[in-house]
Amino acid sequence: MSGWGSGYVTDITYMTGYYRHQSPSVMALACLLGGVASPMPSADDPVSYLELGCGQGFGALILAASNPGWTVTAIDFNPAHVAAARAWATQAGIDNVAFHEADLSTLAESAASVQVPEADFVSMHGVWTWVPSAVQAGIVRLLQDKVKPGGAVHVSYNSLPAWGGALGMQRMVREGGRRLAARSDRQAEEGMKLVKELQAADALQLKRSHMATALISRTGIMPGPYLAHEYMNDSFAPCFHADVAEALAGAKLEWVGSVNLIENFPELTLTPEQRAVIQRLDDPALRELLKDMCLDRALRHDVFVRGARRLDPQARDAALMDVWLALNVSPGEVPYEADMPAGRAALNRNFYGPITAAMTAGPRRVGDLLAVPDLEGRRDNPAELIGMLVGLNLAEPAARPGAEPTPQALRFNRVTLANLRRTENLGRQIAAASHALGTGAPCTLFELHVIERIQAGDSEANIDDWVRDIGVNLDDAGRGNLREVFVKAFHVRLPILHAQGVF
Ligand SMILES: C[S@@+](CC[C@H](N)C(=O)[O-])C[C@H]1O[C@@H](n2cnc3c(N)ncnc32)[C@H](O)[C@@H]1O
Repeated sequence: MSGWGSGYVTDITYMTGYYRHQSPSVMALACLLGGVASPMPSADDPVSYLELGCGQGFGALILAASNPGWTVTAIDFNPAHVAAARAWATQAGIDNVAFHEADLSTLAESAASVQVPEADFVSMHGVWTWVPSAVQAGIVRLLQDKVKPGGAVHVSYNSLPAWGGALGMQRMVREGGRRLAARSDRQAEEGMKLVKELQAADALQLKRSHMATALISRTGIMPGPYLAHEYMNDSFAPCFHADVAEALAGAKLEWVGSVNLIENFPELTLTPEQRAVIQRLDDPALRELLKDMCLDRALRHDVFVRGARRLDPQARDAALMDVWLALNVSPGEVPYEADMPAGRAALNRNFYGPITAAMTAGPRRVGDLLAVPDLEGRRDNPAELIGMLVGLNLAEPAARPGAEPTPQALRFNRVTLANLRRTENLGRQIAAASHALGTGAPCTLFELHVIERIQAGDSEANIDDWVRDIGVNLDDAGRGNLREVFVKAFHVRLPILHAQGVF
């Protein structure tokens, strides 16, 4: 741990990841679902986007690569993160993104703050509950200065009461790890080993918490940098929604909804009895507390607006009808039953079937989807259609439907593959830049690899060559499986990514 980190992990860099909650179009959808005007960034809007605590900057880079007309600004205090992000931008030739090395506890008052433009959209993912209160206070002052009137802010944080059951486990990882090892990722691994040993010895506090048990069982698949940044920070402290809302009110920010879109639908997340209690209440913070008491929501993704303009239901629905959506899956992959916090929800096959079939050729306008012939279901509820399709990750909003891939986005995706394949498994879920979507298109490195082969002039006839190249160390059965994966990528996934404008 360094002196300048104020107790935040600085001896190992955070991993590269893409989180759609950070995308302005998803934030804008959350606002619209919450009945608040938020301009869905359209084709030529010169959006100013700001990310606080950007890590190695992958999310900011995708948004900049997808939207050449945007100004993207991203801040982190770890010079190793900023250096990596800047190198990636240079390598991919992205010139509408600026990465600044600055400490959020003091940036608002420093001369460097003039380099931070006013923003339409701000995101901070994985920052708020991991940093000291002085940093949180600095963030609020910066937001007070930099969020435009009407601007939206996304903040994710570990929330109470759901996280509460794992507080002892987290403390044990941190304290135990520190006494046993040196670098933060090794500390987290050692601390976790100690936790598992005690769990095997039937420790009551580890046994009775569902949250602790779930976190412990997930650690095996989580990389060292994640564990270090998740567990080894001095000031890590999950908090209640109301406390975040009160802090952000200092920047005139008002809570609007959840960027996990499904969470904005009480009928999908709460039982009728729970809804009956909660709907009696007027105070939004109290309602959220009661919801958090009913749900297993340990990581919240809230969206706040500075100067929320309430829309009447007609204006809201008109705005939602004008949203364009692009399918993330093939119609055959649409799950007609999904697990929701309130139980299992069924998606009507005679409604979502024709709608997703109509989306296979490319993005479609929600209003047009609701006019598809022979739908069995309500045609006047664009909120539910968007909530289900985007909320269940079946679709992404599309800012420039039909737009050709830009050279900038194509190059960014090639650089992503080249940079990440050195260290990551090809099956790693990531996202590609897309000018048509204006946001990340979910995909794997493997799919980026197939796209690269196609762009180099290969076709389906080359699949056996691809299997030979990648499967050098595999036996016959392994090569057979790999062939099937290539065939599926070629016939199922690539048409989707093509329709999303990735290549
Ligand atoms: C868990 S990481 C999340 C990174 C990125 N948002 C993501 O989700 O991939 C938190 C980030 O906040 C940065 N950070 C922590 N304290 C900070 C501070 N005082 N000022 C600026 N950045 C800070 C860390 O360096 C780290 O990159």
